[in-house]
Amino acid sequence: MVKISASLPTYMKAVVCKDYDGTPQSLAAADFSVPRLRSGQVLIKLAATSIGPADLMFLKGQYGITKPLPVVPGFEGSGTVIASGGGWMGHWLVGKRVACLAAEDGHGTWAEYMVTSTDICIPLSKHISFEQGAYLTINPMTACALVEIARTGGHLAFAQTAAASTLGVMIARLAKRFQLTGIHIVRRPEQVQKLKSLGCEHVFDSNDASFQKRLAEACDKFKASIAFDAVGGELTRRLASAMPPKSRIVVMARSRVNRARSTRRISSSTMTNSKGFGFLNGLKGRGSSKNCF
Ligand SMILES: NC(=O)c1ccc[n+]([C@@H]2O[C@H](COP(=O)([O-])OP(=O)(O)OC[C@H]3O[C@@H](n4cnc5c(N)ncnc54)[C@H](OP(=O)(O)O)[C@@H]3O)[C@@H](O)[C@H]2O)c1
Repeated sequence: MVKISASLPTYMKAVVCKDYDGTPQSLAAADFSVPRLRSGQVLIKLAATSIGPADLMFLKGQYGITKPLPVVPGFEGSGTVIASGGGWMGHWLVGKRVACLAAEDGHGTWAEYMVTSTDICIPLSKHISFEQGAYLTINPMTACALVEIARTGGHLAFAQTAAASTLGVMIARLAKRFQLTGIHIVRRPEQVQKLKSLGCEHVFDSNDASFQKRLAEACDKFKASIAFDAVGGELTRRLASAMPPKSRIVVMARSRVNRARSTRRISSSTMTNSKGFGFLNGLKGRGSSKNCF
């Protein structure tokens, strides 16, 4: 039963994507109908939203999810729940400040209001600002999930690509708490400095001539049997050939190679709102990367 309130808005200001070509012309600020609430959903008055790599890929139609156009983009944000479409969880959330994700089949967070599923809303404590809440879901949850996978899988060390990214830094910090050794791969000298200044000891620039040799030595020395790869393609191949036999690579990139050759996919909708991780299991190890793809 939809909770009806005379004060609920019918129209909102929103950023609207009209085409998946990634041009500035494909985006416009517009008056847009506030989506209708269904049972299990809530209406959120948004306070803050974020722009991440997933959003930018979505705008170009490269994320693996396309929604009917025109669509309001934006995967995550924060705000206050102002109405419930029914169900105990929705009613409980009304009036609460939440971090939230856009529903896979619904409009996103670059708007004044969003309708989304109750199970992708996280109530915020008063100590968390809306700005912090708008970044609380995708990257932090992904970092927690990946470190948990490494810990519960009994891995002593891990490697990660794009290690100077927001996600990479979160993984590095969290892993330290659990005494997991990190091998961090970046692509620029400034990124090496950045990670070293954060206390990361093993940082390698993939553009260095000695990269492959040093990476293999480090993976061997620290028994890095799991990797988190946000880049894909050739770098995944180099990573795979540097790791010990029977290692595992969690692929977060959407390259053609990874889509085609991942051996298994799991859904991670509460973490990423959309795509799952791809797994490359049971690598044969150095010099045998063709076994992975
Ligand atoms: N569950 C999931 O699947 C999941 C969840 C969260 C994030 N991610 C992915 O994780 C990555 C990082 O996300 P973020 O929000 O932390 O991004 P971010 O802070 O914007 O950082 C992006 C990083 O990726 C690096 N990079 C981009 N293209 C690269 C390439 N071709 N080779 C090597 N490095 C490259 C950039 O280096 P430069 O500065 O040199 O360009 C930068 O350090 C993204 O690919 C994102 O889609 C996946």
